[in-house]
Amino acid sequence: MTDNLINNGINNGINNGIDHGIDHGTDHRIDTAADQRGHAAGASVRDARGELMVGGIPVSRLADRIGGTPFYAYDRAALSRRAAHWRAAMPERLRLHYAIKANPMPALVQHLRGLTDGFDVASLGELQVALDTGIPADRISFAGPGKTDRELRAAVAAGITLHLESAGELERIAHIGHAMGIRPSVAVRVNPDFELKASGMKMSGGPKPFGVDVEQVPDLLAHLGSLPVGFRGFHIFTGSQNLSAEAIIEAHTGTLALAEQLARQAPAPVTYLNLGGGLGIPYFPGEQPLDLTPIAANLAERIATLGPGLRDAELVMELGRYLVGEAGIYVCRVIDRKVSRGRTYLVTDGGLHQHLAASGNLGQVIRKNFPVIAAARASPVDTRDRVTVVGPLCTPLDLLADQIDLPRCAPGDLIAILQSGAYGYSASPLGFLSHPPPAQALVG
Ligand SMILES: Cc1ncc(COP(=O)(O)O)c(C=O)c1O
Repeated sequence: MTDNLINNGINNGINNGIDHGIDHGTDHRIDTAADQRGHAAGASVRDARGELMVGGIPVSRLADRIGGTPFYAYDRAALSRRAAHWRAAMPERLRLHYAIKANPMPALVQHLRGLTDGFDVASLGELQVALDTGIPADRISFAGPGKTDRELRAAVAAGITLHLESAGELERIAHIGHAMGIRPSVAVRVNPDFELKASGMKMSGGPKPFGVDVEQVPDLLAHLGSLPVGFRGFHIFTGSQNLSAEAIIEAHTGTLALAEQLARQAPAPVTYLNLGGGLGIPYFPGEQPLDLTPIAANLAERIATLGPGLRDAELVMELGRYLVGEAGIYVCRVIDRKVSRGRTYLVTDGGLHQHLAASGNLGQVIRKNFPVIAAARASPVDTRDRVTVVGPLCTPLDLLADQIDLPRCAPGDLIAILQSGAYGYSASPLGFLSHPPPAQALVG
């Protein structure tokens, strides 16, 4: 264990020798979430006193710097390592786009500007964050059903690529472009007739509000050719949070074959193909990090044999969670410790209103615990106990960890939830019960 490694802050298991959940070793500075009965999350780095570090800063010091708890902290170096890991694995021709919805914090998006080749936005707000980074407009895409005319006007004025979600949206875009005297850039988002199997969130196959059903695409393409819009290509996004390399490979293979077929019916050469993403991260016990090697090998093979329809197309993978999820933690403070009929509760100043996903209320069918650890304790004692970590809201839904084994914590101690860099702050009902929002910091 080198000091350099310790200084790297949160370790997302990339390039520096600690992998997910391995080696507690004899070094007491390394605690892993695997402490919690084989939990899947990554190792975390601790200082000589056993305190969790993020971006090289002990969390209690960071809490003081930020002005208290609760807060989210994102590790700049961990973000950089993650993007570098993806680039080292993937074929050179593949471009990396960041889906801002995963974490729209402006400083973080600015950092990702230097690590990625483009951004995907899903609202006017995200578009502004993207444009503020200074990225060229032709490297921004805008996907999502129900784009308003106001959003379409802003997108056309900015000169970004609109991912078409329906025939009606195409009409509105053409109309807006005509009125503004600008030729809008569009790519057709296709809802294929296959899905991303074993996915946390399936977004294709069957009836969906996303994209144009593949069987309707030929007619749409024919019509599009008669309108004053600039056709760029296709967007095929099949799902999210997938940890099965096999399923991802199958979806990529299907996506490239489908795009080749559609390219033959396109009104202009395909210069852009967005393959979606869906790469997942491990959150729960038993989950393993995704091995990019077979996914990259399959893509390299397919890319080498692409037909003429896609030969000159820019190929894009669009990732949110995979890039930022493991680089963030959420930190809250124990306010009270109480025992109710034999069950010990740590009541904290953080909760579901600030971290909905960890409470299990963001799309989990069966609630499982996120990796939750004791981050900083005022008077460390070696005993451990089984606790339930809750927030301050008067609802049984406000549960951050259900019956986990932690080193003994007391009021004032800090608790951290790992794997919190994606769909944390911005995917939480921050106004629920009118507590102030948590701070956010990009550190390191
Ligand atoms: C169109 C689109 N792109 C990208 C993403 C980001 O997915 P993830 O964070 O799983 O990479 C989503 C997620 O829903 C999406 O709908």
